Amino acid sequence: MPDSRKKPKDNTASLEDLGISLDASLQNVDPESCGGIFSFFSGAGFLDLGFEEEGFVPVMVNEYHPPFLAAYKHSRSRLGIAPPSLGYLGGSIEALRREPGKAWLSQRIAEARDLGKPVGFVGGPPCPDFSNAGKHRGKDGEHGRLTKVYVDLIRAQLPDFFVFENVKGLLRNHAEHLREIEQQLGAAGYRFATRLANGLEYGVPQDRERVVIIGFHKRLYERAGQILPRRYRLGHTIWHEELLHDIDQVRSLPWPGTSPFGEDLGVTCPEGLRPELTVQHWFRKGSSWIPGS
Ligand SMILES: C[S@@+](CC[C@H](N)C(=O)[O-])C[C@H]1O[C@@H](n2cnc3c(N)ncnc32)[C@H](O)[C@@H]1O
Repeated sequence: MPDSRKKPKDNTASLEDLGISLDASLQNVDPESCGGIFSFFSGAGFLDLGFEEEGFVPVMVNEYHPPFLAAYKHSRSRLGIAPPSLGYLGGSIEALRREPGKAWLSQRIAEARDLGKPVGFVGGPPCPDFSNAGKHRGKDGEHGRLTKVYVDLIRAQLPDFFVFENVKGLLRNHAEHLREIEQQLGAAGYRFATRLANGLEYGVPQDRERVVIIGFHKRLYERAGQILPRRYRLGHTIWHEELLHDIDQVRSLPWPGTSPFGEDLGVTCPEGLRPELTVQHWFRKGSSWIPGS
C-alpha cells in the first residue's frame, strides 16, 4: 500500500491534487460572522474549532493527510456544522503558492473581504523538524520547510490577520529561524505578538506548550484610525488579557501521579485541584458544544 504520508515534491502538487476547480467560489458565508478563516495544515480541525466558537467561519480547509481530513469532515457532520464554503482541499499547500493556485486563492480572499469582515489565515505547520523529540533538521527538513511555505503564503496573500502555531523547539533551538520569520512578517506590514503559551493558562486541560504568533496587518489599524505601534511587535498585552490561570500556580496544585488504566476505576479528583483543568470534568459535561449555540 502506498504511504499516504509521504510528501510530494514541490513541483508535483497541482490544483487538481487539491480537488478544486478554478471556478469554485465563495457562497453561503454567514454575513453575521466575525470573519472568514482560511485554514492550512488543518489536521482534524481542532484549531479551527476554537475560531468557530468565537464566531469565525472556516471558508477553506487544506490538509494533506487523507485520514485527518476524513476525521475533520466526519466531526463536522456529526456536530451538524455546515462544511466550509469553499470545501475541503485535500493535498499539499504547495499548490496554492504557484499559479494557477495562487491567483485562485487571491480571488477567493477578495470575495471573502467583500463580505466586509476581516479575513485570516490560521495554521500550525508540521513540527517534527523543530521538535525536541525530532531530529532537529530545522527549516530545511522535509517538514520544517513547510513553515517557510506558510509564511511565504501569508506574505504573498496578505490576509488581515494570521495565526502561526508551532512547538517550543522553534523558540529554544531554532530561534534564528523564528526571528527571520518575524522579520519577514514585520516587513510585510504585520504587527504581531509571539508567545510560548501553555494550554493550561487558557483553561485547556492539557499541559502543552506551543509557540504562537498572532499578527494583524497594519491596514486593519489604519482602517480603525488607530496609531500604529512604532515597531512591529505588539508586546504581550493581547496574551495577558485572555489569561485564565497562572501557570506556576496551576503546576503547584496537588496533581496525582500516574495510575493503571482501566474502566470504572472510581478515581476521585484530589482536593485542591481545579476540576475544569481535568479532562474528566469535560467528559462528564459531555460534548455539548455546537458553534453559535
Ligand atoms: C501539527 S498538525 C496540525 C494540527 C491541526 N492544527 C489541528 O488542530 O488538528 C500539521 C498538519 O499538517 C499536515 N501537512 C503536512 N504536510 C502538508 C502539506 N504539504 N500540505 C498541507 N498539509 C500538510 C499534516 O498532515 C498535519 O495534519
